[in-house]
Amino acid sequence: MVHIRALHALAFDDGGTVSQLVDALRAARAPIEPMSFVGALGGRIVGHTMLTAGRLDAPRRIVDVYVLSPLGVLPSFQQQGIGTKLVSHALAAAAQKRIPLVFLEGSPRYYGRRGFEKATQFDFRAPSLRIPEPAFQVARLSSYESWMTGTLVYSDPFWALDCVGLRDRAPQ
Ligand SMILES: CC(C)(COP(=O)(O)OP(=O)(O)OC[C@H]1O[C@@H](n2cnc3c(N)ncnc32)[C@H](O)[C@@H]1OP(=O)(O)O)[C@@H](O)C(=O)NCCC(=O)NCCS
Repeated sequence: MVHIRALHALAFDDGGTVSQLVDALRAARAPIEPMSFVGALGGRIVGHTMLTAGRLDAPRRIVDVYVLSPLGVLPSFQQQGIGTKLVSHALAAAAQKRIPLVFLEGSPRYYGRRGFEKATQFDFRAPSLRIPEPAFQVARLSSYESWMTGTLVYSDPFWALDCVGLRDRAPQ
């Protein structure tokens, strides 16, 4: 775990909030088990991502879904396809567990070529108005059905650590 914490601190350069998020997500009680994926090179962990439980408040019932977050690759190992492989493994694992949907917040330029689509076009609503619409993305997996629409509800660690959407910058 120390490696993974340090990895995200370096990848995100954010003072450690993402590292805390990883710990909190692993410790949280959840309706579906979290899954972790690591990329290793020469025996060293150089990339990491997680799938953790979210809930989709669909008209018919609550649907258990995954949220992919965070995704980090050590700066000196970026641009080598490690992030791409981690995303692809995570989606395959979610599909194998018959989880219908994986959501995330991120760059459409990056994730749009890695299995994700703009979520609002399928009648999904983001958990916060502070998430820019193009950043709210979804991967629809083999057990997805078209009645599965509605609002994504994040697990508590995302709120407790204020890791949702974008905040206004304080005036200079
Ligand atoms: C984003 C990140 C995970 C990508 O990992 P990676 O192993 O370097 O990615 P890959 O080698 O698989 O893919 C490289 C591609 O990602 C693009 N890319 C890298 N960072 C990007 C970003 N922040 N936004 C959009 N595209 C990005 C590169 O331009 C490159 O594009 P190409 O496929 O057109 O050449 C890595 O850069 C990272 O850890 N960044 C810091 C943490 C972060 O921002 N995580 C994502 C949060 S949503």
